Amino acid sequence: MTADTYANDHFELFLDQLKTLARIPSCSWDGFDFVHLETSANQVADFMTESGLEHVEILRIPGVHPYIYGDWLHAGADKPTILLYAHHDVQPPMREELWKTPVYEPTIVGDRIYARGIADDKAGIMVHLASITSCLKSTGKIPVNVKVIIEGEEEIGSAHLMDFLKKYSAKVQADVMVLADVGNYDTGIPSLTISLRGLVTLQVELKVLDHPLHSGIYGGPIPDPTIALSKILAKLVDDNGNLDIPELNAMIKPLTPTERAMYKSLGMTQEILRDQATMEPGVDIFGEDDEILERMWRKPSLVVNSIESGSRKSAGNVIMDSVWVKLGLRTVPNISRKSAIELLKKRILELKPWNVSLTFTEEARGDFWLTDSDHPYFEATRIALKKGYDKDPVYVGSGGSIPFAGPFSEALGNVPALLTGIEDPYTNAHSENESLHLGDFKKAIISQIYLFEELAKIGKK
Ligand code: BES
Ligand code: MN
Ligand code: MN
Repeated sequence: MTADTYANDHFELFLDQLKTLARIPSCSWDGFDFVHLETSANQVADFMTESGLEHVEILRIPGVHPYIYGDWLHAGADKPTILLYAHHDVQPPMREELWKTPVYEPTIVGDRIYARGIADDKAGIMVHLASITSCLKSTGKIPVNVKVIIEGEEEIGSAHLMDFLKKYSAKVQADVMVLADVGNYDTGIPSLTISLRGLVTLQVELKVLDHPLHSGIYGGPIPDPTIALSKILAKLVDDNGNLDIPELNAMIKPLTPTERAMYKSLGMTQEILRDQATMEPGVDIFGEDDEILERMWRKPSLVVNSIESGSRKSAGNVIMDSVWVKLGLRTVPNISRKSAIELLKKRILELKPWNVSLTFTEEARGDFWLTDSDHPYFEATRIALKKGYDKDPVYVGSGGSIPFAGPFSEALGNVPALLTGIEDPYTNAHSENESLHLGDFKKAIISQIYLFEELAKIGKK
C-alpha cells in the first residue's frame, strides 16, 4: 500500500487523535492550570511513539512549558533532514458563553470541526504525525529523515526560544524546516506563506487618583483617566487607519514590484474581507481593494486588546482612579520589536495630556519574518500541495506571527523555512468557535506525504 492510500484509509483514526489532543485544555497563559500542558505533552509523546518515531522525549527547560521531540533518521545520509514544527499550547477560550459547541469537546458541524486549538495548532501536530504514520505503517520508511519539535509556549510569545535553541541546537539541526502553523488563503486553496508580521504588546496604566471619587462632588477640576487615554489612543492612528508614528512608518520595507503583483493576483476586495471578517454592515474598511492585503501583511497595525477602568457592573457616578489598556502592535519588515516598543512608548509619552501618571509594562513578542522563495524546496512544496489539494497553490503573506520562524531558521544555518497550515478565513483562531475544515485537514496530511517524496527527489541542497 502507498502512504497516501494509507492516509486516506485511516483518516478517521487521525481525526480521533486530533480530538483527543483538543480535549486537553493546554492553555499556556498565566492564570491557567499548567498541569494540562503536561498532559498534552505526554499525549503528544504517546502519539509520536505510536506513529513510529524514535527517541521520543519531552524536552525540558526549568520553568518552561514542555516541548516534545521525536525523530526518524533512517532515510540515508544523502537524503535531507526535515524539521517539522507545530505547537501544542492554545489560546484562552475568550468568552465561553459565546461558544456554540463545548470549548474542549470537539464537535463536527457540517464540514468543519469545532474546539479551541483544533486548528491552531493541534491540526498542525496531527499533519506531522499522520503523514509520518502513513509512511511508516504502509512502506516501513519515510523518504526523508525527520525530526519533530512540538512547542509548548508559542501562544505566549516563545519567551524561552533562545534558551531552547542554545540547549538543543545540535539536536534540531536539519536541512529544511516545515512549520505547520499558518493558514490557507481560502478554504481549499493551498498556500505557502513567505512573510509574517511580528508582534509587540504594551500595557499602559494611567493613574490620576488614589481611589475613585464622587463625580458630582469632584467632577470638573480633575482629569478623567480614560479621557486622557482616549486622547492618546486617538492620535496613534490617523483618520485613514494608518499608524501615526512617523519614525516607525519610515522604517517600513516597501513591497517589490513582484510582491505587489503577487498580492494583486490574489484578488482581495473589500467585499470579500467584509464577509470573511463578518463586519457590521456599513462600517468602513481602510484601504482600496488592492491595498487590503498589503495592510494586513506588510503594514504595522495597532489594536486595543483590552481596556479596563471600573466595570459595567459598578459603573457608578464616579471619576475612576485609573485606566489600564493592553495594546498590540503588529510589526513588519524592517521594524524590529525593539524599535517598535521604543518608538511606541516615546509617542505615547509625547501625547500624554495633563501630566497624568503613567506606567508601561512591555512584552516583546515575535519578530517579523520574510523569505525569498528561490530555493528549490519551495518549488517542491508547490508540487506537493498541488498534488495533495488538486489545486494550484498560491504564495501568500500573513499578518500573524510565529516567533520561532526567524531565529530557528537562523540557528539551523539559514535553512529554508516552509510555512504551511490549515487555518482558513473561517477558522476564527484565538476567538470563540475556532474550527478546522475537515476536507483541508485530510488534504494537508496527504500533501505532506507528497512533500516528503518531493524533497527526497531533490536531495540535500
Ligand atoms: N498560528 C498562529 C500564527 C498565524 C496564524 C500566522 C495564521 C499566520 C496565519 C500562531 O499560533 C499565533 O497566534 N501567534 C501569535 C504569536 C504571538 C503570541 C507572538 C500571534 O500571531 O498572535
Ligand atoms: Mn499557531
Ligand atoms: Mn495562535
